[in-house]
Amino acid sequence: MTMLKIDFSPQQLSLLRSDHAGELGAVNIYKGILWCARDPAVVAFANCHLEVESKHLASVESLLIPKHRSTFSPLWVVAGRALGLMAVVGGKTFLFSTIASVEEFVVEHYKQQLPFFLELFKTF
Ligand SMILES: [Fe+2]
Repeated sequence: MTMLKIDFSPQQLSLLRSDHAGELGAVNIYKGILWCARDPAVVAFANCHLEVESKHLASVESLLIPKHRSTFSPLWVVAGRALGLMAVVGGKTFLFSTIASVEEFVVEHYKQQLPFFLELFKTF
């Protein structure tokens, strides 16, 4: 994916850095699930979400050059994988509840960022 050259403010860069961490964690939650899930419904669910989250991650990476990404990126990989594994171990209901909670958090996270990016988007 091509890098877009946009002059983000320090605050926008900070927000994008957190977005990158979140999308990296999300990709790895589904990879963690796929490491050990055997239930076909869970595997299909995780594969579908992994595809979507991989696109989200690629989108953020097209905006945020590597030097502006989180220095803790390896931690988000490990944490995502661990959460995916724990979700599978906890059973199907726990897994879907965990994913629902994560997604609710993500929706609020992006809603809170909207005002910081709306002005920027008007310039395109
Ligand atoms: Fe995402």
